[in-house]
Amino acid sequence: MVRRAYVGGNWKMNLHLDEAEGLAAALIESMQDLGEGGGEGGAEVVVFPALPYLLPVGRRLREAGLAGSWLKLGAQDFYHEPNGAYTGEVSLSMLRDVGASVVLVGHSERRHVLGESDPLINQKVLAAVGESDVEVILCIGETLEQREAEQTDAINRGQLALGLAGVRVEQLRRVTIAYEPVWAIGTGRTATPGDAQSAHAAIRAWVRFTYGDEAAEGIRIQYGGSVKPDNAASLIEQADVDGFLVGGASLKAGDFSQIVKAAGGHGD
Ligand code: PGA
Repeated sequence: MVRRAYVGGNWKMNLHLDEAEGLAAALIESMQDLGEGGGEGGAEVVVFPALPYLLPVGRRLREAGLAGSWLKLGAQDFYHEPNGAYTGEVSLSMLRDVGASVVLVGHSERRHVLGESDPLINQKVLAAVGESDVEVILCIGETLEQREAEQTDAINRGQLALGLAGVRVEQLRRVTIAYEPVWAIGTGRTATPGDAQSAHAAIRAWVRFTYGDEAAEGIRIQYGGSVKPDNAASLIEQADVDGFLVGGASLKAGDFSQIVKAAGGHGD
């Protein structure tokens, strides 16, 4: 099965309004110039601005005629309850109102800095897959200590089993997995293509065992952790690397579009 490459740009808690709008405008311009490898027929792309800027960034995408096609708007986080007394939180329906159709769940910074547990992550995944027009990117990955103890695959399998508990096979079609080794995020250290491939193959094997062949062949597995224009090509060549989740380099329109192009030009 051919899996369309999928690249996410996670802006994290960066950029103020004018900068976020400026980056959106620059991205639109460089994406329109991408030609082969980006846009129609190339990689699918989603950008995750900080929550207050979803509306203005989404408006820019819509005005350029790109929103909702291969270029999507996503939210870095949400709360799984539909509404109520949850001070500071936002619901999925609020995100949909402002044009977001993709949500990140279980990002390593939410797990390790904000203390999100696997059961909370699972509640968020279940809430999102329960909505037919929302897509989920579920992030998993091991710490350096766990890698050194050769627990990478066991940690990934555990996070998959807990994060996806109760998700039905037809709902899995709207789920993408992002493998992001914690030690590679924002550190400039990237997994070697071989290490990434080995972790991705084990993730796909878990999906095959749990959900069957069709689900395993269809699910997209992004790699994340210091992806840059100069390492994207060797990573995307790996059979089980289907795209990227990009942090730092997604804040530079030129770098991000080169990564999108590398991913989309790969063709399998
Ligand atoms: P990075 O972040 O590209 O800055 O390492 C990746 C991520 O957190 O998704």
